[in-house]
Amino acid sequence: MEYQVKTLINNMLRSVEYEREEERERHFQEMKYLTGHEREKKGRAIINLKKRKSGRTLSGEHLYIFSKGERIETEINVGDQVVVSQNSPLDQQNPSAIVYEISNKSITLAFTKQPRFASSKGLRIDLAVNDTTYRRMEEALLILRSPQYSKLHKILSGQYGVNSSLKDVPYKDLNTRQSDAISQAFNNNGYYSIQGPPGTGKTYTAAHLIHWIVKQGKKVLITADSNAAVDHLIRNCIKLGLDPLRIGNPIRVNSDLKSYTLDYRVYKHILYDEVSSLQLELEDTKKLQKTVERPKMKDTRGYSYSELVELLESNQAGRGISKQTIKDMKPFLKLQKKMDSLYSKIQKLRDQIQSDILNSHQIIASTNATSGCDLLVDAHFDWVIMDEAAQASLPSAMIPIIKCNRFVLVGDHYQLPPVVINQEARELGLDQSLMDYLANQYPYYLSQLNVQYRMHEDINNLVSSMFYNNQLIPANQVKKRRVMKGNIVETIQVNGKELMQKDSKSFYNELEIEMVGKQIKRLLKSVNADQIAVISPYKAQAKKLQKLYPDIEIDTVDAFQGREKDVVIISFVRSNPSNNIGFLKDFRRLNVSISRAKSKLILIGNLNMIRHNEMYDYLFEMIQEAY
Ligand SMILES: Nc1ncnc2c1ncn2[C@@H]1O[C@H](COP(=O)(O)OP(=O)(O)OP(=O)(O)O)[C@@H](O)[C@H]1O
Ligand SMILES: [Mg+2]
Repeated sequence: MEYQVKTLINNMLRSVEYEREEERERHFQEMKYLTGHEREKKGRAIINLKKRKSGRTLSGEHLYIFSKGERIETEINVGDQVVVSQNSPLDQQNPSAIVYEISNKSITLAFTKQPRFASSKGLRIDLAVNDTTYRRMEEALLILRSPQYSKLHKILSGQYGVNSSLKDVPYKDLNTRQSDAISQAFNNNGYYSIQGPPGTGKTYTAAHLIHWIVKQGKKVLITADSNAAVDHLIRNCIKLGLDPLRIGNPIRVNSDLKSYTLDYRVYKHILYDEVSSLQLELEDTKKLQKTVERPKMKDTRGYSYSELVELLESNQAGRGISKQTIKDMKPFLKLQKKMDSLYSKIQKLRDQIQSDILNSHQIIASTNATSGCDLLVDAHFDWVIMDEAAQASLPSAMIPIIKCNRFVLVGDHYQLPPVVINQEARELGLDQSLMDYLANQYPYYLSQLNVQYRMHEDINNLVSSMFYNNQLIPANQVKKRRVMKGNIVETIQVNGKELMQKDSKSFYNELEIEMVGKQIKRLLKSVNADQIAVISPYKAQAKKLQKLYPDIEIDTVDAFQGREKDVVIISFVRSNPSNNIGFLKDFRRLNVSISRAKSKLILIGNLNMIRHNEMYDYLFEMIQEAY
């Protein structure tokens, strides 16, 4: 292995460890110094929960539903790792679990082992470090060291003879660059990348590429770093009539994607009836066993039930147990034997159903982290297609990539980068995406899309001039798109005051909340609620707004990356005497913000203050000039 690649992998291993430690420490400090109530207000704990059992997932994890009797508001998401406690989150013995589902009033957790709770009330859930994700990154990096990955080593070192040829791929509904991108990406011999500004159809083109791969009879793993981005890519595939299998869970409960999940497919499998009836039989046997005498601890002498069954059947005594004592246990042990055999039959059937479903799907979809789960441990794919790849760090991207022959990275490095909280990890390069890293090594092995199909030309021109050197072109069919009268881009000056959410670093601004409300009312006279999105860089603002307008999609900029809406309202929030605009400064965040709207963009904030920053001054200047 090249020295350079060795160093790269070692640096990444170290940076993952730094990042994990930093996150662990932050959680630890919070759990130590904040009360449950305070942490709940921050969105990282949920207190006063009641639990009830709710069956098992197909891979046998134990599901429990925790409810509060009132609306649950939290930042904890599907797929996060949590610990459950009786208000003592730092206790090492606490069971940990993965969030399986979240609804308004309850949260469902999946436990690998049957958890023990001292009580079924007064429980508390705390967000913990997602060790699983870090472990999978480490595993991927360690595996990557092995000589069998010499091709990938070469790719990483920039020494690979990447080549890719143009062969016609017949899709009428793509523009020339998009179809060229597909043929190049499809004919690459290891790595390729599809890049381009917002709305140029990267996700759309990726879906067509996936369609083409499937048509050639190949298997493809499709991923992104966030669940939201995976869901978005899946929706694009479904529109093309494809049938992806979602591993892990979609971001919204009861979403249109539920029927694509592995769990759902298992319930629909023809063999599932058999699992159900075996499960019923198992429950009945369990009940029956409760009616006979259970062997006393002192009599079993450390033997497991299955070992005792063996002794009984071979008519033997055990160490310190007489034949008679074992015989006395017969009614209990007979039922135990039946249960063991039912249980293993169920497991076998489940495995069979699972592998049947996995084998019968050509497209498997998951987050990068989840692609490292046990279910896919031996899976191998012809292709990995990763969307929003500019958000995926190298270790995260490697989790799926080590499972494939070739990969295609789709994204835009002028949009948001990987989130890294530890300074040392950043210095070691963890905040550089694999996409960015490889684009530097192979500047010619990427397709750059440049015609966008999302934004009215007025919005297009802002994005294009600010971030893309005027290279972004609006397609004819969207150039003039509008859903209502008036200017396409509007700015509204609000002399509000930013306030910091108690116990959190996030900001909100009440006057802006009021103004957003007024605008929503005005817009609803011309468009439907589902045509509007409100985005804000600050989580506290987004949350307060969402509470007031539950029918409108309201989220942070980061969460809205990759998405689009007819009308978008942005609330900038920051307003203070020292002209401090915090992370609004990041041009990538502004780029994502203003490139989500198709035909109306309303910018709300203390624009007079924000424009002390040059980039914003340029933006507001352009808007003024345009109208
Ligand atoms: N060739 C095309 N013809 C018609 N519509 C298209 C074409 N390409 C893309 N679109 C449409 O343009 C919109 C934007 O596409 P898409 O979301 O794939 O862009 P993107 O480059 O992934 O954007 P982002 O950077 O925000 O992720 C979508 O509504 C998509 O259906
Ligand atoms: Mg996209």
